Amino acid sequence: MDEVKALVNGLANKHGRTRESLLPILQGVVDKMRYLSSEAMTEVARELDLSAAQVFGTATFYSFLDTQPRGKYVIRICKTISCDMHGKRDVLQTIEEILKIRIGETTSNRKFTLLETNCLGWCHKAPAMLINDEPYTELNADKVRDIINEYIRK
Ligand code: FES
Repeated sequence: MDEVKALVNGLANKHGRTRESLLPILQGVVDKMRYLSSEAMTEVARELDLSAAQVFGTATFYSFLDTQPRGKYVIRICKTISCDMHGKRDVLQTIEEILKIRIGETTSNRKFTLLETNCLGWCHKAPAMLINDEPYTELNADKVRDIINEYIRK
């Protein structure tokens, strides 16, 4: 059994094979493989006896279920109003300058992907971003430069 089949099969054994299992299974695939390949989505559809369109639709509806290969560190910067009003633009510009990528892009060494996201729930400490699951708040250009440089050294 190849890696994707084995992974999906294991997740289906764990979460079940009902429609309600779809989301946890897709999340499990992303956790393990860092994105949802079309091969994995097709396999999930087969395993749960759903149409490929149902699985693709769910995956693209939830923006956190990545359907593109991503970098090792996925930076998600909040684009919602509180962060926007508290200097998100400077923070974003600094990240773009350091990593030489724009929103939606991945560095050529596959280390960083830069994305925007809706409100992260840290509005009282705006501007905010996530790097993978780690939140960073009250950002400014200097602070974000230090944070990104630390990840570059990792
Ligand atoms: Fe950015 Fe809420 S508006 S965290």
